[in-house]
Amino acid sequence: MSVPCVAVDRERGESVRARLADADVLDGDHRIAVVDATIYIPVTDPDGVPDDLLDRVVERDADRRDRPRTPAEILGYEPSLERLGEIVIVDEDDDERAREIAAAVMASDLPCDTVLNRASPIEGELRVREWDVLAGNGTETVHREYGHEFALDVAAVYFSPRLATERHRVVGGVAPGESVIDMFAGVGPYAVPMAAAGADVVACDLNPVAIEYLRENAARNGVADRITAIAGDVRELVDDYAGTADRLVMNLPHSADEFLDVAVALAGDACLIHYYDIQHEDDPFGPGLEAIRAAAGDEYTVAVETERIVRSYAPHEHNVCLDVRLERV
Ligand SMILES: C[S@@+](CC[C@H](N)C(=O)[O-])C[C@H]1O[C@@H](n2cnc3c(N)ncnc32)[C@H](O)[C@@H]1O
Repeated sequence: MSVPCVAVDRERGESVRARLADADVLDGDHRIAVVDATIYIPVTDPDGVPDDLLDRVVERDADRRDRPRTPAEILGYEPSLERLGEIVIVDEDDDERAREIAAAVMASDLPCDTVLNRASPIEGELRVREWDVLAGNGTETVHREYGHEFALDVAAVYFSPRLATERHRVVGGVAPGESVIDMFAGVGPYAVPMAAAGADVVACDLNPVAIEYLRENAARNGVADRITAIAGDVRELVDDYAGTADRLVMNLPHSADEFLDVAVALAGDACLIHYYDIQHEDDPFGPGLEAIRAAAGDEYTVAVETERIVRSYAPHEHNVCLDVRLERV
């Protein structure tokens, strides 16, 4: 394609290029070319070329530069995007703007085969949301987190990549040989890396689709022999696993308190509970700790190991984690 270029002797190339950059007329979308002793520097606007170089402007074919194109470069503004495997998630109330962003994402160099927009809050017992498919045609993907792969269908199961750092922190404390019960396991983002760290994990979820993916993910990551995956209500685990857990993961932030009796029943003589909660910023840890103490009663001593704000959940509300150690009295 023919574009305006400034043609000068090769040895003047760098000083002229710098002057054109100062004049803000360098054309970064096309390649500079050298032919014999002449260098051709593409410019965006011949009228902006310094006066003493005006007689050097020529029209010339120039190759397009293969540089990465981001959605922001295409749109002229930075959209809010989240990556989940090959899915890009936009978070837009305005449908027209969401579609404009989706088109830019697909035209960009981002590796992506589907663009989704959130179409509902996370709802119901299974904590799943609805999606608008803006581009592509699937809601299933494989997401990578700290060296592990998780296959999942965002339309059928809960999964949040925003919890990656928190999960990594918790998994970092696991020792080989531990007995872990992941009470609300989803597709296995705690269970799989804990098993990889050497724990024996019982992973339960009410959502049978999540458990199907969890089994697939256990196999995919080579830890199927250390995970027992159970589809059903965690309350049903008490019959088979009472008194066995060295560690419990309770990632059901809005209603974990309703399952603390189950947690205490599953706890072994010494047990670390990772208890997730959503609370007001004025007292983010108090209500959870009170509920844990009430459930433990006189049976266990309760010691707080960590109080952690995981992320902001809503204005003045935090998603928090309490790591609490129970020791049988
Ligand atoms: C917030 S998600 C967490 C999933 C997973 N731990 C993660 O980090 O992605 C909570 C999960 O608890 C499951 N759940 C809700 N009630 C349950 C119950 N009574 N017994 C077992 N699982 C339950 C939901 O299906 C959902 O997958």
